[in-house]
Amino acid sequence: MSKSAGDPSAQARPGSRALFPELETRVYANHASLSPPSQAVIDAVSACLSQYARDGMGCYAIEVERRERLRARLAGLIGAPVRDLALVANTTAGVLAVALGIPWRRCDRILLFDGEFPTNITPWQQAARREGLELVWMSADDFRTDRAGALEKLEDHLRAGIRLVAVSAVQFTTGQRMPLEAIGAMCRRHGSELFVDAIQAMGVVPVDVEACAIDYLTCGSHKWLMGPEGTGCFYAGEAVAARLEPNVAGWLSHEDPFAFLTRAPNELRYDRPLAQSARMVESGTPHTLATAGLEASVGLIESIGVEPIFEHVQAWHDALEPGLVERGFTSARMADAEGRSGILSVRTSDPAAGPAWSRALAEHGIASASPDGWLRLSPHWPNGLDDAENVLKAIDEILAGGGPSPG
Ligand SMILES: Cc1ncc(COP(=O)(O)O)c(C=O)c1O
Repeated sequence: MSKSAGDPSAQARPGSRALFPELETRVYANHASLSPPSQAVIDAVSACLSQYARDGMGCYAIEVERRERLRARLAGLIGAPVRDLALVANTTAGVLAVALGIPWRRCDRILLFDGEFPTNITPWQQAARREGLELVWMSADDFRTDRAGALEKLEDHLRAGIRLVAVSAVQFTTGQRMPLEAIGAMCRRHGSELFVDAIQAMGVVPVDVEACAIDYLTCGSHKWLMGPEGTGCFYAGEAVAARLEPNVAGWLSHEDPFAFLTRAPNELRYDRPLAQSARMVESGTPHTLATAGLEASVGLIESIGVEPIFEHVQAWHDALEPGLVERGFTSARMADAEGRSGILSVRTSDPAAGPAWSRALAEHGIASASPDGWLRLSPHWPNGLDDAENVLKAIDEILAGGGPSPG
């Protein structure tokens, strides 16, 4: 497909910052926290806002159509049918929908992973408290240090009876990609459901809900999908969605929710059936501007392709990792491509030094993060492979100055 000059996807190339003219940070390697908006996102959001300024409610139908397009695009990114995908406000909204929506039986067991971002913990803890459920814990990091052993342990737990396994596709600290295909197959074998927080994966790591037998998936927009904050997606397979209770339903969760606004009288009824699908969680007025921005950023990701983005990001990691190791850092990166993600995390012999390193790098114009003490570098498609040279030069300068200052 040829791209016209005015089409922003014509400028979306791995390694090019052409669509980020306002980005001041010299090396922006913090996409695992938040993506700065590309020009395409800024333009889409401002065009949407201007349209509202001109036309008010007149744009509503256009935005309903946009949401339908965006659902289809996001469903395409995870290999899901569009009917199983809903737009939500953030990752948490998807976790809550399931934690509050499953018709739990007392003493049902949920398997969680120590080391996960709290988004994928707190709602399960609340469900456990309210419904008398048991939480069973494994260490997420065991899957990095001994994947086969950890899978065996997981299977022992599943054999003993687990209603649902809740896991992140990629661990936010180490960047370790969880073996979702193996986990999904095991869950299917033992009759457990699989819930996946995909915010550290979608947009940079291929995700396929069918291949991994994922029952539910949730993902916010502002990291690897590169959209504005305040929107995201939720997937629930047809069979499990049909069993969800409507505990987070609202006026938009009903079938034909606009009938009473657009048709003749006597359509204002409260007994319309609720959508018995993922769409049930779309309960009230959405964040239209964020939706417009996300459509633009996903368009760029589609135009490059997730596989080429993953390869580019791995080339970036390949360019930097050996230099970090030479300088005394220990890398958390997995040996095989299936275990890798967009995140390259390292540690010095002092595990408390991560935040000081991140602050010192920021003073050299390099954006990183330091979750749980790791120094986390997370580039995306616009990062150039020459970033490695700049990062290593900055590290040498920091070391020459006696290392980062603590606290
Ligand atoms: C694994 C993971 N899940 C979820 C979130 C955020 O959740 P939410 O979109 O609900 O704020 C983050 C980071 O902010 C994360 O790293």
